[in-house]
This record gives sequence, structure tokens and C-alpha cells, in this order.
Amino acid sequence: MKQLFGVIGDPIAHSMSPAMHNAAFKEAGIDAYYHPFHVKPEDLEEAVKGMKAIGVQGFNVTIPHKTSIIPLLDSIDPLAEAIGAVNTVVRVENRWVGFNTDGEGYVRALKEQCKEYLQNEPILIIGAGGAARGIYCTLAAHKVKQIDLCNRTVEKAQKLANDCPYETVTNVMNLQEAEKRLKDYSIIIQTTSIGMSPKTDESPLKIDELQPNTIVSDIVYNPIQTKFLLKAKQQGAIIQNGMKMFVYQGALAFEKWTGIFPDTHKMEQLVYQQLG
Ligand code: ATR
Repeated sequence: MKQLFGVIGDPIAHSMSPAMHNAAFKEAGIDAYYHPFHVKPEDLEEAVKGMKAIGVQGFNVTIPHKTSIIPLLDSIDPLAEAIGAVNTVVRVENRWVGFNTDGEGYVRALKEQCKEYLQNEPILIIGAGGAARGIYCTLAAHKVKQIDLCNRTVEKAQKLANDCPYETVTNVMNLQEAEKRLKDYSIIIQTTSIGMSPKTDESPLKIDELQPNTIVSDIVYNPIQTKFLLKAKQQGAIIQNGMKMFVYQGALAFEKWTGIFPDTHKMEQLVYQQLG
């Protein structure tokens, strides 16, 4: 019988995940189907119960449910617990187990494309929202020694540093201070939604102080190059958009469901095609 997987979110219509996972199932010769489910916040609890009742094998979770789903699951992986967000749920026997592959997806993408050994690189993260939590905690879990945080609301960045159970050194600052200190970092990671389509003209901070050859990465992949990344490139930075992170979080979820790690290059090509 065909196995059923999916993604729950609100909104969900523009998710690239169904095309990516359905192609991966076909490629792996697995008889399965992945469906986008539009689930409103007030219906989340019933949706999670209902998916168990109808035999769904696993699902992804996207905005706005990544945190609110936690109490509705039967157990949660320690990294997802530290991050405080779940993006992948696996059915183990008859229990829902929550994981977070966003942060790990980001770290894999960074290692593959930019820098294999990260531990000794001073890193700056811009932002302190959900995406920043995943990346910060996962980098700390990978034993990166220094991960500084800058955010418009400094208290939120401080809270993130305090909440993370993995040991790392972190200086917390506002965006103006970060602008002056960019040369101190070999990797800078932009985790806010600033610059995302349709507001493509915005940038989180000025990067005049950026040194050439700094790795500058932006989790946004639509547009494929934000204004922030374009400026960084003009200043000689090595740039990376959020496409590989998106693909790797999906590939890691697929691996948790099937035991097979799919071809990420094919997945990436497919998502670029979907974006047009
Ligand atoms: P996500 O879960 O996608 O990370 P979020 O939790 O709403 O989204 O976090 C958004 C991040 O973008 C936060 O770091 C936010 O800064 P604040 O904590 O100060 O709100 C940042 N952000 C959003 N709009 C911004 C803007 N116009 N200027 C600067 N930072 C902004």
C-alpha cells in the first residue's frame, strides 16, 4: 500500500517540499506520496491526531507550527528540544517523534559548499528568530568555539545564547555594533527574512567593513541572491544562498523516514526549476 507523508503549515500552497520529496520517493523506488496540508493554528491538535489515525508515516512542520507542535508529540529529540522547534516528525511504532533538521541542514550545506572544518572559525549570526535558534544551537552542538549574535532586539539574542545547552562563547550585540565588527568574522550568517521576496530591496545591516574572502551566507533562497548577498559579493565575499539548507533539511527528513539519503544535487535542480 502507498505510504503517506506530508507537510503541515499555514500558508502552505507555495511549499517546494512536495515536489522535492515526491521526486525523491520516485527516484528511490518507494511507493509513497507527500502532500501539502493546510492546517490552521486552531486545528493543529486535531490534525496531528488525525494523521496518526489515518496512518501517515511522517511529516514536515513549517510556519507557524514548529514550536506549538512540541507538546502534541510523544517524544522529542534532544537537539530539537534545545532549539525549541520541530520541522520533522517520524512515526516510530505508534508514536510521533519530533526532530529538527533545519539547523543540521544548514551546517551540512555550509560544510559542503564553503568550509569543511568550522570549529575554530569566528562566526556571526544576524537575527535571533526561529531560524537563528536552529543554526546557533546546531553550530554549538558541532563544537564551534565562538558564535556571536546580533539582533535588532538585543534581549532576544541574549535569551537565545542563554537557552542553548551546548557550550560556546557568544558576544551579543545590536546591528550597529555588528556593522563595525564585521572584519572580526570569517563566516557571517544572515537568518532573518529581510530581503525575501517580495521585499527584495531591504538589507539587515550595512556591510562596508566586510573583508574580502569572508564567507557570507543568507538563509533566503527566493530571490536566489538577496540585496545583502549581492553587496557582499561585490566586496569580494564568498557567498551562499539558502537553497542548499532547504534541500539538506529535506534530505535529512527523507533519510529519517526511509533510511535513504537522497541525491541532493537532483533535489536542488528540481527546486531551482520550480522557482522558474
Ligand atoms: P523566523 O522564525 O523566520 O526566524 P522570527 O522568529 O519572526 O522569524 O524572527 C525574525 C528575525 O528577523 C528576528 O531576529 C527579527 O528581529 P527582532 O527579534 O528584533 O524582531 C528580525 N527582523 C525582522 N524584521 C526586521 C527588520 N525590519 N529589521 C531588523 N531585524 C528584523
